[in-house]
Amino acid sequence: MAKDFSTMEDSNRSSNSSIHDVIAESKRSFLKTSAAVSLAALVAPMVGCASMASARPKLGFKAIPVGMGDKLVVPEGYTATPLAPWGEPVGIAGNMPAFKIDGSNSAADQAVQMGMHHDGMEFFALAGSNRGLLAINHEYTDDGLLHVGGFKNMNLEKVRKSQNAHGLSVIEVALVNGRWDMVRPSKYARRFTMSTPFRVSGPAAGHAMMRTSADPEGLTVLGTLNNCAASKTPWGTYLSGEENFAFYFGRGDQVTPHQARWGAPKQGFYAWDQHDPRFDLRKNPNELNRFGWVVEMDPMDPTSTPVKRTALGRAAHEGAWVGVTKDGRAVVYSGEDARFEYIYRFVSRDKIKPAGNGLTQAQANKDLLDHGTLYVARFDANGKGQWIPMIHGQGPLTAANGFADQGEVLIKSRQASDLLGATKMDRPEWLTIDPKSGWVYCTLTNNSQRGTPGKPSVDAANPRANNTMGQIIRWKEEGDFDGGVFEWNLLALAGDPANERAEAKGNIKGDIYGCPDGLAFDAQGVLWIQTDAHATQMYKGEFARIGNNQMLACDPLTGETKRFLTGPTNCEVTGIAFTPDSTTMFINIQHPGETPSDRSDPAEPAKFSNWPDFQPGGRPRSSTVAIRKNDGGVIGS
Ligand code: FEO
Ligand code: CA
Ligand code: CA
Repeated sequence: MAKDFSTMEDSNRSSNSSIHDVIAESKRSFLKTSAAVSLAALVAPMVGCASMASARPKLGFKAIPVGMGDKLVVPEGYTATPLAPWGEPVGIAGNMPAFKIDGSNSAADQAVQMGMHHDGMEFFALAGSNRGLLAINHEYTDDGLLHVGGFKNMNLEKVRKSQNAHGLSVIEVALVNGRWDMVRPSKYARRFTMSTPFRVSGPAAGHAMMRTSADPEGLTVLGTLNNCAASKTPWGTYLSGEENFAFYFGRGDQVTPHQARWGAPKQGFYAWDQHDPRFDLRKNPNELNRFGWVVEMDPMDPTSTPVKRTALGRAAHEGAWVGVTKDGRAVVYSGEDARFEYIYRFVSRDKIKPAGNGLTQAQANKDLLDHGTLYVARFDANGKGQWIPMIHGQGPLTAANGFADQGEVLIKSRQASDLLGATKMDRPEWLTIDPKSGWVYCTLTNNSQRGTPGKPSVDAANPRANNTMGQIIRWKEEGDFDGGVFEWNLLALAGDPANERAEAKGNIKGDIYGCPDGLAFDAQGVLWIQTDAHATQMYKGEFARIGNNQMLACDPLTGETKRFLTGPTNCEVTGIAFTPDSTTMFINIQHPGETPSDRSDPAEPAKFSNWPDFQPGGRPRSSTVAIRKNDGGVIGS
């Protein structure tokens, strides 16, 4: 998300702030390594590196210049077609209210229309590469744009409309005469809003800290929110991360240590707490614990119930991405997009099962992510790292330290990670695994508070103070995906190499960018990078020559980047999905025209953007975009 929470408090005040302390301890205990390697060595390209694949992907298109103005640009020979913008009916038979450009659709209308602020997305094929489902996250709302009258005079109907514009959508799409469009009605079309029941599974299901008066068993949560990145599992389901959920709650003047560690504000950012008691923590303190989970959903089964997977830990999850061990177990990587928070890995106890006995593969693996071990990452200055298990009763994770059982370790993952000495990162966003080499890549989007008084200082993995530009880190497990030790380095420090401030200079080879966020490998081995610089930053100072948010193609072996797409004014470029034949790429344009305040009156964003409709008096709309090569070839070739 681009929403600027810089005025909000940081919630990580634990003392494991300096990696140097951790390194000293590690050396004393078990690592016994030689002197730490230099930063230069940690940002070297990997051509010739034995653990990388040798074949280089082709970046065959003509790069485009930096983006300026309210338009979406792709290279010569490509066509980009918007589809399924905010407010478009998803296609539920008999319930397809038309979008009203003045914002006057009701909360009930919004519950069956595309939500706002499209983010993570995946394509699920129904008929090869010509027809399929798109599952899409709707991260948050701009209530200025959502309602007639904007964010003023909020009431329960406006709150319900906002709640219904959050969550997930499943839509059916088809390629007809070279152009993608929605198929409506569709038996697969679904919306998941703040009133959709989610089953809670794993060790924290039914835990005392998960129970509320409305759900005394702690087994069913209504809704999912702030869903950011997404991925597809090898067994065919959709994973979505509940990111900065705390800002939806209000705790009043008093604050408990648990609420403080999770950043619960006095007043909710969206005014839900003032009109829906569920989000008032004075009335429902445990409701806060029911969000921050990785959500699993089966888009191919319209009758399936979505699930919150507590075994993967609670965090401001950007998303979650799955690798597979040699013996067939699932390994799920995730990070949390918050300043000075952590990167996690879960290894399943059981192997991924094939389809059979009348079950789809998704149905055969319905409990796979409920049993296994969660780890948190420590990046050491010598280019090695350690996965630290988060198991109740081991090390400091005891009742005496506030962890009664494994459920409490998972609900309080941040507090557990603090005690385990994990590395505090610069806002981990998307992850992706190179299918050829097994290297795992993660964007660290920025952290302007790194190195400021009272905050953690720089470390090897997060090497820049006042880090406005971000970096991309990568690691490779020693041995299989479930090993305890990994090697790591930095693919790139983002930022214009011509910048004057040393910490904002990037070392990018090729086309420049700032604030990397979306990240995904395609089947050809190209690493696609999407950016999310905030509207307050764009076009000014060290962002002056970077232009609108964008998407680039990167050769992971050399680090060379080529600019492939630039978005309209003040948007974020996010969501990456491909058809199986790689001839269509779907991306999302989120919050075109977003105002620096995020608190616009309805007319305000239209001053910046009217994309994609360009209607007089209209409102900018987040939207999916289908991109094809005019000759029908593979994207990027
Ligand atoms: Fe929702 Fe981390 O961007
Ligand atoms: Ca972001
Ligand atoms: Ca993001």
